[in-house]
Amino acid sequence: TRTTVGIVGAGPAGLMLSHLLALSGIESIAIDARSRTEIEHTHRAGILERDSVRLLVDTGVSDRVLVEGHEHKGIDLRFSGVSHRIDFQSLVGASTWLYPQTDVFVDLANARSRDGGDVRFGVTDTQVVDVTSATPGIVFTEEDGTRREVRCDYLVGADGSRSICRREVPEALRRQYFREYPFAWFGILAQAPRSAEELIYARSDAGFALISQRTDTVQRMYFQCDATEDVDRWSDEQIWDQLQTRLAGEDGFRLAEGPILEKTVLPFRSFVQEPMRYGNLLLAGDAAHTVPPTGAKGLNLALADVRVLAETLELAILKNDVDALDGYTARALDRVWKAQHFSYWMTTMLHRVDGASDFDVQRQLGELRSIVESDAGSTYLAEAYTGWPR
Ligand code: DHB
Repeated sequence: TRTTVGIVGAGPAGLMLSHLLALSGIESIAIDARSRTEIEHTHRAGILERDSVRLLVDTGVSDRVLVEGHEHKGIDLRFSGVSHRIDFQSLVGASTWLYPQTDVFVDLANARSRDGGDVRFGVTDTQVVDVTSATPGIVFTEEDGTRREVRCDYLVGADGSRSICRREVPEALRRQYFREYPFAWFGILAQAPRSAEELIYARSDAGFALISQRTDTVQRMYFQCDATEDVDRWSDEQIWDQLQTRLAGEDGFRLAEGPILEKTVLPFRSFVQEPMRYGNLLLAGDAAHTVPPTGAKGLNLALADVRVLAETLELAILKNDVDALDGYTARALDRVWKAQHFSYWMTTMLHRVDGASDFDVQRQLGELRSIVESDAGSTYLAEAYTGWPR
């Protein structure tokens, strides 16, 4: 078979790209090793930047985010037991939306089937071939066992943090940037009413905690833990104790508790691979970069990549402007490195590091005060969190 763009990965990045290309009349196929159900049930982050919401709504994916999502006009930074509101609306005139990544995926998958897009889940033994040729290809086995080869003009690696596509860029031509962190997040879903209307990012001497929400009856929370933590060692009571301790303060704030439905440890690392283009292969989203979860940039960054990539491919395919491909890496990385800095900064400003000196602790508190007590400081946080305007 032949198509114009072959997309490896049918998560939010791959599906959004396929959707945007279809709007310009460009044919594509998107394949994924996971089943649709598996992707729908893998809990990820839940915060969309202003422009991510616009992209979903304005390109006709769905306006469900506006109906079922929750507009957040700010966040609370909590430290030394006191909450400080960062008011996005008054600082930068923007909001974010609480809308889980799993719902973004469902909306995109529905839009692709509504519009007749070619998306295949649950494929196995995927290989990409001839990436520097004029007809690179994807070879894979369909769910029913049929082996297929699809040839295309361009290949896109939107296949996540364990990307097979990024390995196609020869070692001598690529550069990888890594940063490890000496902690992780313990994430829970709990059956309980909301403890707050918006998000609380809390720094305490016992470590970081984040209070988020999902629905009226199910809540999402995280707390800093060891990278090697075993979730099964933790009882519900111990988990609530940790969270209550990290949120405690002079205002007497208490989280509403309930049965814990799910427990997972989230990995923490920063990673970038450049270039994001090699021959006729282009990388997008986590295939090219990973951010630590603090600040919820991962999905938003993937969608921002895809918007630039769709424009790039439209120029190359519809206007014969193949030079546009040369600019993709620099255009995408400009935002990637700002988001890398922001995610790193939010992480280091709010987490406890074992063996930190008294100086380190006081400096961290000074940093937090210099953000919340100043419009100049808060405005940087608000602008980055709601998403840099394009
Ligand atoms: C969520 C996750 C994040 O990493 C974050 O910064 C904010 C919210 C969430 O899952 O709701």
